[in-house]
Amino acid sequence: MESARIRQLLNLLVWALLLLKTEASYVPITYVRNAVAKGAVCLDGSPPAYHFDKGYGTGINSWLVAFEGGGWCNNVTTCLSRKTYRLGSSTKMAKQIGFSGILSNRRLFNPDFYNWNRIKVRYCDGSSFTGDVAAVNPETKLYYRGARIFAAVMEDLLAKGMKNAQNAIISGCSAGGLTSVLHCDRFRAVLPTGARVKCLSDAGYFINAKDVMGEQHIEQYFSQVVATHGSATNLPQSCTSRLSPKLCFFPQYLVSHITTPIFFVNAAYDSWQIKNILAPGVADPQGHWHSCKLDINNCSPDQLDLMQGFRTEFLRALTVLGNSSSKGMFIDSCYTHCQTEMQETWLRSDSPMLAKTTIAKAVADWFYERRPFHQIDCPYPCNPTCHNRLVDPPQDHPEKNVTTKGTTSDASARKPDFLKLANKAQWIELVSTERGIGGLLLTLVILVIL
Ligand SMILES: *[C@@H]1O[C@H](CO)[C@@H](O)[C@H](O)[C@H]1NC(C)=O
Ligand SMILES: *[C@@H]1O[C@H](CO)[C@@H](O)[C@H](O)[C@H]1NC(C)=O
Ligand SMILES: *[C@@H]1O[C@H](CO)[C@@H](O)[C@H](O)[C@H]1NC(C)=O
Repeated sequence: MESARIRQLLNLLVWALLLLKTEASYVPITYVRNAVAKGAVCLDGSPPAYHFDKGYGTGINSWLVAFEGGGWCNNVTTCLSRKTYRLGSSTKMAKQIGFSGILSNRRLFNPDFYNWNRIKVRYCDGSSFTGDVAAVNPETKLYYRGARIFAAVMEDLLAKGMKNAQNAIISGCSAGGLTSVLHCDRFRAVLPTGARVKCLSDAGYFINAKDVMGEQHIEQYFSQVVATHGSATNLPQSCTSRLSPKLCFFPQYLVSHITTPIFFVNAAYDSWQIKNILAPGVADPQGHWHSCKLDINNCSPDQLDLMQGFRTEFLRALTVLGNSSSKGMFIDSCYTHCQTEMQETWLRSDSPMLAKTTIAKAVADWFYERRPFHQIDCPYPCNPTCHNRLVDPPQDHPEKNVTTKGTTSDASARKPDFLKLANKAQWIELVSTERGIGGLLLTLVILVIL
């Protein structure tokens, strides 16, 4: 055979191997059954649940606890509707979900956390784990017990080895990103004093802004969430001692009092916030924003102006963070929501970058104190590395009961542009994590191709 043909064949082979290699790892569900006796249950009374991929090697005493997102329920009607699907009942949850991005177990895709104990806590309380109402209405049979779930899951994980943690991160995206803000110091408090413990909030910096009609829509909405779930006593006291509980659901009023180091990954034009804070359905009865909300390319100049105004407010709300190195931030100008649990935005050759740094590197460098990170992007549309969102994944449509195979599918990592990643060092890293016949073949291919 001529060498061109051999190359072609080897190329095919490499693709076949990459396909296997980048298949998301699926992690089975664990139900926290002993939580039921403590009244720590989902909206429908079912046990809480999480997915746990055990750490190994140097990561054996490091713990990443990621909280699932999926909006909130703000009254009996919306909470009752949640009981019928996975965000309100563990009986409706997928038995396994894909782990990718910061949850990936592959060094190539997640170089600093791949061998940690990685946990994804399922969201089924509708209050970012803050609710605690003792009484259960006999008619609705709704349980508002998010804060109890948080405590029960912590207890369970501590017993499973987290009590020996040397490194730990609480993270989450969207309502889960808010969970990691609201519970940041509490998480720190249950871990060993000597451990390095930090908080990471992805798309959790919801701001208290007026909508396009000038109404305080999100403030009213959060106030209903807090009232419905009896959250007040579980919000950080450093905030509730000064302000009304409904305000203490907004990161901007409490972050300056958080003592544990915290990092925010957020788009300045967070697509959830544009859709639900700036231009919620009630503020746009004619649906003028419909196509703009779906795709930023469809926005009119007026709409873009309002979005630039939103960014200005977003950045103003961030100033309370100050510039201390313990408070990190990666604020890009993308139109998106949640960037740490998807491979394409966490770490890939074409992932979003600020100061030539991917989110994966910024977060890890900050966590290990290799360097502080405090970057705010120039305004839209200046950043060519953005992945602007066209259609949101299912977890962003909290009021619909979609069944998902995995909330964090790794399908994107299978796209051919993954090959762009293939500089020599990364190829070699790929091989070094591969064992057996696959590793041998890949080594061969690399020798031939590079
Ligand atoms: C519950 O909240 C939803 C969403 O905000 C709203 O549309 C609905 O009218 C509310 N229902 C009641 C009974 O308050
Ligand atoms: C924070 O800002 C002040 C004033 O702008 C500056 O003097 C200081 O060096 C900054 N600190 C860090 C850690 O960037
Ligand atoms: C919601 O879930 C229920 C029960 O699982 C199902 O019967 C119904 O068709 C679902 N609705 C939607 C809109 O998917």
